[in-house]
Amino acid sequence: MFVQAIVLVGGEGTRLRPLTYGTPKPMVPILNVPFLARTMERLYAAEIRDVILAAGYMPQAIVDYFGDGSGLGMNITYAIEETPLGTAGAIKNVERHITGPFFVLNGDVLTSLDLRSMREFHHEKGGIGALHLIRVEDPSPFGCVVHDDAGRITAFVEKPPKGTEPTDEINAGTYLLERDILDLIPAGRAVSIERETFPQAIAEGKALYAFTTADYWLDLGRPEQYLAAHRDVLSGAMPLAVEPGINGAGREALFGHPRVVPPIFAAADVVVDASATIGPNVVLGRGCSIGAAAAVRESVLWEHVSVGAGAIIEEAIVASGVTIGANARVAHGSVIGHDVTIDPGAILEPGTRLGAPPERIPG
Ligand code: GDD
Ligand code: MG
Repeated sequence: MFVQAIVLVGGEGTRLRPLTYGTPKPMVPILNVPFLARTMERLYAAEIRDVILAAGYMPQAIVDYFGDGSGLGMNITYAIEETPLGTAGAIKNVERHITGPFFVLNGDVLTSLDLRSMREFHHEKGGIGALHLIRVEDPSPFGCVVHDDAGRITAFVEKPPKGTEPTDEINAGTYLLERDILDLIPAGRAVSIERETFPQAIAEGKALYAFTTADYWLDLGRPEQYLAAHRDVLSGAMPLAVEPGINGAGREALFGHPRVVPPIFAAADVVVDASATIGPNVVLGRGCSIGAAAAVRESVLWEHVSVGAGAIIEEAIVASGVTIGANARVAHGSVIGHDVTIDPGAILEPGTRLGAPPERIPG
């Protein structure tokens, strides 16, 4: 069965600001590689070669990185939305490129889901589509999906108020759909697949099936989840070809380091003073430098972050180009946007978000 994939990457990543002022959410790095590249690898592994990226917010960063996809052995088509068309509108917008059954992937989901087994499931079940579901403790921030014993979906309730959730099975953001679903989506306006298309398909008696798995699954939409994703990859809970311990091209340099506490992951060219403490659960991007007696714990530093002597960083996300002055303290839950400078000795409260929106959002 020839299957294409549409990856929805048009969201503004509001909950990840200020990181997403400088980097669109799909390009936010997981272990130093843009998240979307991880998704592309998963598609490639499932023998999918034809991918449509439905983008809108800061698309140029995405186009610059992936180009036409030939570098990955894939064929990438871009559809750039002038104004956001919503999760179904984005699919309708690429109708002319869709030739048969297709996957739709929310672009911010980290999961070990095997797309091939989902394809087999849909092939056996038939119907207009299959939705990947996962069980969670708190379903209220997600789409709740109710189905009968045969797996046929009977209700889709997007983000129900807490206490009113009809089930603990949620929409995990991967669908395999038949082309016929496009007939249910009106053209020329924003449409939500969760709030309009799925409920309508159910109301019209179309057969949608639940593909519930116990896979690793995380929506990367919020800073806590972004850090949790790194912890889970570093511990092996999320399988991503990283061994626990000291990883990355920087392992050679950091193996003998007296104060490195695994697991950590570092780029090849990081410079870490011998008296600095790194880890556990730390990721250092290209060009990072950590000064004498500084400490970095449970944090992800993007590229070219300079940490001054004696500074302490805990449970924080630090975007590229940031300078942290000597003896500054970046407390847990802090998110520091691109190119911010933190003065020597500054004390940041827990949960500080620093970084202004650019005057003009590029491309
Ligand atoms: N092209 C395009 N256009 N993409 C969009 C648009 C749009 O107008 N709006 C959102 N997206 C993309 C986002 O970039 C993201 O990858 C995906 O669609 C889902 O949007 P989110 O904003 O992250 O939605 P959510 O996390 O609140 O909820 C969705 O995901 C949950 C699972 O993570 C829903 O699908 C829920 O039902 C689901 O449970
Ligand atoms: Mg999301």
